[in-house]
Amino acid sequence: MKYNYLKFEKRDRIGILTLDRPKALNALNEEVFKDLTCFLESENVNDIRVLIITGEGKAFIAGADIKAMQEYSPQNAYDFSETGKRVFDLIANLKIPVIAAINGFALGGGLELALACDIRVASEKARLGLPEVNLGLIPGFNGTQRLPRLVGAGNAMYLMMLGEGITAQEAYNLGVVQKLSEPDLVLEDTIKLAEKIAGKSPNALRLVKEMVREGLELNSKDAGKMESKEFGRLFKEDQKEREEGVSAFLEKRQPNW
Ligand code: CAA
Repeated sequence: MKYNYLKFEKRDRIGILTLDRPKALNALNEEVFKDLTCFLESENVNDIRVLIITGEGKAFIAGADIKAMQEYSPQNAYDFSETGKRVFDLIANLKIPVIAAINGFALGGGLELALACDIRVASEKARLGLPEVNLGLIPGFNGTQRLPRLVGAGNAMYLMMLGEGITAQEAYNLGVVQKLSEPDLVLEDTIKLAEKIAGKSPNALRLVKEMVREGLELNSKDAGKMESKEFGRLFKEDQKEREEGVSAFLEKRQPNW
């Protein structure tokens, strides 16, 4: 499929999706969301084990397209916010792990996209933040909800009220980012991480993601019950990956999923 603002490359079991609108620092507009929706609903995501999302040029994504938003009516703005949420939910709900390789600026909607991913790796030179308050705006793609769930309300308010980009090291210290890389090695390091993850049981990875994401929406008692139910289900006879994983350990060999 041909995209205007995306590039996709498959390396063995890993998919690499690159936002490709470098002249506008990969800012998100309706066209980019259209491309992302097409990609996320396409066959491309069915035959990879891990998806990496990164940006072309010096930015990961510098946010929602401020120029396009200038003309918005309240209804346009509401619809744009809902569209962004729908697209980011498609990312969050993919059955495979998704890793953001943050190569540069991840601001506003760009950071919100990274927050919809499961893991974030960042260049030591990247700057991350939610600068919407400088524009008289608030994050509109679920950032006000995803960030506090990831780093707690205090850290989330700090970032949203400060409205300044913080360094990758600060983002790492706050728990926004899980791994730092030398600027030239971000994609390479993320691919290495993705390859390690791609070697694990796909079914177990899918369940880990489902338990964490769904569990965050439940109280801890119900979430714990959901976990026990899934844990029990893994011991049914048709659960080949569990059988293979345990046999491989006992036979001192690598599992073949
Ligand atoms: N929207 C549209 N265009 C953008 C953009 C954005 N978010 N960010 C950068 N650009 C454009 C610039 O306008 C510029 O275009 P021109 O060459 O046509 O002037 C081009 O990208 C390069 O940017 P700069 O010249 O500004 O590059 P820089 O290196 O000097 O600065 C930057 C980089 C600090 C990231 C700066 O571009 C910046 O502050 N960008 C805006 C960041 C921001 O406020 N993001 C939040 C957007 S609101 C949002 O995201 C709301 C939401 O949640 C829904």
